[in-house]
Amino acid sequence: MRRAGRVVAEMHLAAARAAVPGASTLDLDTACREVLERRGAKSNFLGYHGYPAVACVSPNEVVVHGIPDGRVLEDGDIVSVDCGAIVDGWHADAAVTIPVGSVDAASQRLISVGQAALAAAIEHVRAGHTLGDIGHAVSEIAEAAGFSVVREYTGHGIGTQMHEDPAIPNFGRPGKGLKLRHGHVVAIEPMINAGSAAVRELSDGWTVVTVDGARSVHFEHTIAVGDAGPEVLTLRW
Ligand code: MF3
Ligand code: CO
Repeated sequence: MRRAGRVVAEMHLAAARAAVPGASTLDLDTACREVLERRGAKSNFLGYHGYPAVACVSPNEVVVHGIPDGRVLEDGDIVSVDCGAIVDGWHADAAVTIPVGSVDAASQRLISVGQAALAAAIEHVRAGHTLGDIGHAVSEIAEAAGFSVVREYTGHGIGTQMHEDPAIPNFGRPGKGLKLRHGHVVAIEPMINAGSAAVRELSDGWTVVTVDGARSVHFEHTIAVGDAGPEVLTLRW
């Protein structure tokens, strides 16, 4: 899983380099695909319930599961790239929201809060801490900043499958829920909206957007409960 995680980190770096004004969302998927090929890794997204790409590419008001296509990124946009890799049967999965060109202060703040929410959640990936601790850490930070947390989608366990038990919500009560143990590996993935928490799925059966059209960010890492605390397997920079 460490090896799969390094491939995913490299996919994110390639996508971030490709995310310039004028690039299409499909260009970012292509950048991710090239890394998979170079590293001899397989995609866990391609073909998942019929999903047609190796990455989900979700600009601005798209929350998650944006299908890469000809949509062109403009200066000032933000774009979330969610992708994964399989190495020798073991999975990793991570997402990052990238600024395109120079973004306004409000979008920069949304990105910073998303990163901080994930970082706070990761601090609870320790033996004896609970899923409630993780979810609470995310919602506290997002809501204190005046943003809202998407409730319809969750993080998950990960291993020889991309999605394993348990589901890991981005809200919860401290001390409640499953207790983590040494060796557990989880994917934590807050989705945070600038406006209301309400989301809807488009008729393509994948694309999830904010109902109010406001921007959304998505940050995810694959993290192991290590001997010395959290070990982030998909760390980039
Ligand atoms: N990215 C989702 C997750 O992080 C899964 C994407 S499903 C796919 O759990 F079909 F788009 F691959
Ligand atoms: Co995931």
